[in-house]
Amino acid sequence: MGTEDQGLRRLAGARLRLNVRHALDRAAIWRETIADGRRHIRYSAATDSRSALSAQTRQIEAQITKDYHRIEKGLALRSPRENFGAAPAARLDRDLARYQQLPDHDPAVVSHASSALAGLHQWHEHTRHTDGGPTKFPVAWAPLGDAEVEAFFRSRVSVRDFADEPLDMALVRRAADLALSSPSVCNRQAWGLWSFSEPADIARLAELQNGNAGFRDQIPCLIVVTVDAQLFAGAGERNQRWIDGGLYAMSLVWALHAQGVASCMLNWSVANAQSRRLRAAAGIPDHLDVITMIAAGHPREGLRVARSPRRSVDEVLHSDRS
Ligand SMILES: Cc1cc2nc3c(=O)[nH]c(=O)nc-3n(C[C@H](O)[C@H](O)[C@H](O)COP(=O)(O)O)c2cc1C
Repeated sequence: MGTEDQGLRRLAGARLRLNVRHALDRAAIWRETIADGRRHIRYSAATDSRSALSAQTRQIEAQITKDYHRIEKGLALRSPRENFGAAPAARLDRDLARYQQLPDHDPAVVSHASSALAGLHQWHEHTRHTDGGPTKFPVAWAPLGDAEVEAFFRSRVSVRDFADEPLDMALVRRAADLALSSPSVCNRQAWGLWSFSEPADIARLAELQNGNAGFRDQIPCLIVVTVDAQLFAGAGERNQRWIDGGLYAMSLVWALHAQGVASCMLNWSVANAQSRRLRAAAGIPDHLDVITMIAAGHPREGLRVARSPRRSVDEVLHSDRS
């Protein structure tokens, strides 16, 4: 066989190997997508009209929250529909009775739902006005000055070089609390934040993530953001966990930044088996989905950060007005 033939065969062999690996990648996408679907089917709540079939406390809570929030939203409209709220109210009556029987129910949820029902009753039976009850006036807020806005947003960067000092848990706690101001679908707030400050725990857990190898041993605080899959329902909400969880994670990073704490989000772009490993290692229950890890701490003096150039706003903004 000539050298040219051998070269061609080698090329064909390399091409075949590429195609096989690509086919395996695609097969993995199917496998993981099916596993994602299985998790959603296993843990999600039944949808509105089927919600009597939901058995877990948090699944019933999802429906109650959705329904009391529907009433609150209705009462916050300038002109609520004449007979709005009948279906949510009927479901609430039924679900609250069931929910309160469960030993691990949340009394705050019962209280929110009961006051929404009372507000709806008042609206229909007596006053037809929406002041008070389950609605409120927003806190007045004066916009920040241009320079402050610019400085705050443009100074956040992903930090991969932390100072050798612990991170005060009070700062993390405050950030976790401030980030609770994030919006969530029907106010379900499915979030969880798992914080680790022990170097041995950080090393053990960060090792399961593939984007921190160069700075793992300098991370003062490792955070895992989760959402509870039981608080979502139906095919339409199959991706909602990632949206709500991502919103909370971003707010958390802004809240850390506002307090002078540096951070770096650490992707959780992994197969389901790796999430199982992390849950086992971190003591996170199986019904929680992992959204992202976040490394947090004080920045080392004189540190450098990746340039991370940005797209122009014109590439991102599509508007019918100039
Ligand atoms: C969800 C998410 C996952 C990320 N994962 C990693 C990671 O694993 N390792 C890392 O060094 N940076 C990670 N980053 C940081 C990005 O590289 C960084 O946000 C991006 O380059 C923009 O730079 P900036 O954050 O400094 O503005 C992640 C960011 C996001 C939003």
